Amino acid sequence: MLGNFTYHNPTKLYFGEDSLKNLKDELGNYGQNVLLVYGGGSIKKNGVYDEITAVLRECAKTVTEVSGVMPNPTATKLLEGVKIAREFKPDLILAVGGGSVCDYSKAVSVSVNCDDDPWEKYFMRFEEPDCEIVPVGCILTMAGTGSEMNGGSVITNHDVKLKIGHVFADDVMPKFSILNPRYTMTLPKYQMCAGIYDIMNHICEQYFSGEDDNTSDYISEGLMKGLIHASYIAVKDPQDYEARSNIMWTATWALNTLVAKGKSTDWMVHMLGQAVGAYTDATHGMTLAAVSLPYYRYIMPYGIKKFARFAVNVWGISPDGKSDEQLANEGLDAMESWMKEIGLVMNISELGATEEMIEGIAKATIILTGGYKVLEKDEVKKILKDSL
Ligand code: NZQ
Ligand code: ZN
Repeated sequence: MLGNFTYHNPTKLYFGEDSLKNLKDELGNYGQNVLLVYGGGSIKKNGVYDEITAVLRECAKTVTEVSGVMPNPTATKLLEGVKIAREFKPDLILAVGGGSVCDYSKAVSVSVNCDDDPWEKYFMRFEEPDCEIVPVGCILTMAGTGSEMNGGSVITNHDVKLKIGHVFADDVMPKFSILNPRYTMTLPKYQMCAGIYDIMNHICEQYFSGEDDNTSDYISEGLMKGLIHASYIAVKDPQDYEARSNIMWTATWALNTLVAKGKSTDWMVHMLGQAVGAYTDATHGMTLAAVSLPYYRYIMPYGIKKFARFAVNVWGISPDGKSDEQLANEGLDAMESWMKEIGLVMNISELGATEEMIEGIAKATIILTGGYKVLEKDEVKKILKDSL
């Protein structure tokens, strides 16, 4: 049975090869000052920066830049952006990049007009903003996180070895997002595949919980099937527009709050992956891939019916004459083969984690209670060891 919920997503999305043409009108909705935020320089190499700054010039905006936002943006970098933004007083923060740049821009947006330390306030105490929030618009260059249409913001603090996500309310979500699949085509294959698995896992996190027959789970199954299909094509030919556009749109729907409505969700792969990320600074999607199978194989007996359904409805495995356990195992085996075929990292050692780190990574893993099995710390350690 679906529980009670309100569904409201305030982000306006422009999708497709011509979607940047909407930027001019959007800029008209905001004041003079635009804070342009981007990463380590990919947008300068692929021409996206030139296209966007041309529109900003055409609209005669006053622009200040925050560049060098790293993958897994840090609390230190956040303070740097907040300082620049406080002096500049932006009317709009324009994020151009992947999830890291979008997440970072949201974190800046809730911190510009707030005196507290943002790491402490939002990522340790999980408070909501009680100050004016600067509007954020995103121009996405990498498909994966769903940050373009959600309130999520994940920040890493290397001093305390923690990587923490805060899911902010509607008023922090991007006001608009521009998604041009062509912009994702210069991504290195490693990042493209990490993004694909991030999408897959967002769906799994919301699918593997609850026993009920509900609409969200059917939507999730459709999204997963489409993603798997498109992933094979994109890995073979990264320039295939159809596949890249389907992946980009699936990423948005995988984490724009829809499929979580009315049901419980798990998110333990993300908690494990984020803790691994806090110790290794590894690529987000790869940290998820590396812990997923040990985690799912461990919790499978507690949610056996759903894992059996996953095998049949997502991987097309015939149920004839098979027990739920047999089906569930075959489903995870099929996922493992797919993961290996598209080139994901299958263990945390390859990402730089060591046996000596397990204790610390386990300590940094936040235990959530929405999944089929609420883990004890020892079980977290076992899963991490099995992921080495
Ligand atoms: O910095 P640049 O030079 O732009 O390079 C980036 C970066 O090195 C590169 N890249 C992006 N677009 C490119 C490109 N290179 C060439 N061509 C392009 N078109 O890719 C690298 C990774 O980018 P990043 O933004 O870090 O990747 P992603 O989109 O996976 O974002 C990861 C961050 O998002 C958080 C993760 O924890 C991580 O910090 N997440 C955010 C979520 C949310 N808001 O809801 C949920 C997710 O589960 C996730 O936790
Ligand atoms: Zn993720």
